[in-house]
Amino acid sequence: MKELSVNHLLGIKYINENDINLIFETADHFKEVINRPIKKVPSLRDITIANIFFENSTRTKLSFELAQKRLSADVINFAASSSSVTKGETLVDTVNNILSMKVDMVVMRHASPGAAVFLSKNVKASIVNAGDGAHEHPTQALLDAYTIREKLGDVSGKKVVIVGDILHSRVALSNIYSLQKLGAEVRVCGPKTLIPKYIEALGVKVEPNLRKALEWCDVANMLRVQNERLDISYFPSTREYAMQYGLDKKLLDSLNKEIVIMHPGPINRGVEITSDVADSKQSVILNQVENGVAIRMAVIYLLASKIK
Ligand code: CP
Repeated sequence: MKELSVNHLLGIKYINENDINLIFETADHFKEVINRPIKKVPSLRDITIANIFFENSTRTKLSFELAQKRLSADVINFAASSSSVTKGETLVDTVNNILSMKVDMVVMRHASPGAAVFLSKNVKASIVNAGDGAHEHPTQALLDAYTIREKLGDVSGKKVVIVGDILHSRVALSNIYSLQKLGAEVRVCGPKTLIPKYIEALGVKVEPNLRKALEWCDVANMLRVQNERLDISYFPSTREYAMQYGLDKKLLDSLNKEIVIMHPGPINRGVEITSDVADSKQSVILNQVENGVAIRMAVIYLLASKIK
């Protein structure tokens, strides 16, 4: 049986093209399973997983939980805000207490970049990064690339522009790694203040003009402005941001080709994308969410097979 080269999923940086393709092949199988009348398989009846979320989430948290239940794993959920973390318990103590209840795998979202790597070095369990600050969000990048593959047949050779707040985005960095590993060309577009200085060192060109970026690409991934991570004002006003970097139907329809529109969610409707674009036939936003369950089933299944 083929297996992953890693025991944890900490970031796309740490996995290779073969790992990504294995996750996609496994997700193809699970996507077929979750479209059956009985959407469940008994594969992980002997595995217990803890979902520990130190930051808010809708899609990632529910999708991981559903993926685990579809695989018949036992699942416990932990929200930091209602836990003893509020009394000063450390991350390692918290997780070691959870692991002493015979838990095999931890899925963690944390506000600190590097938290998942840190945890993997300090506890004895398989760790899945569900987003660590502005660092990586590997399962989001996997479901994004999987959705491009589903929509366009392949990721290799495709041109993808990531638009918006690149500086604070874990989705951008993980997408850059995954798309490049799969042979796509990636550009970024956004206000100069929200483009990290190291971006060209990653082999990514900057296109400051949204129309030119859209004319170049096959796929546009429209990112949310991460207001919760903005310590200073990076652009004059939300209205001006929307006028320069927001995608509306008039701009989309004025392009001389059809492009695929993606967004990781949650959407600020009317800021980075208007409702008529988000809900248009070119948008695959809900396909991304649907594919998230199959991708997370694949990741959990493949990591669990390494601890059995
Ligand atoms: N895309 C994403 O990570 O969404 P949530 O924050 O709702 O999980």
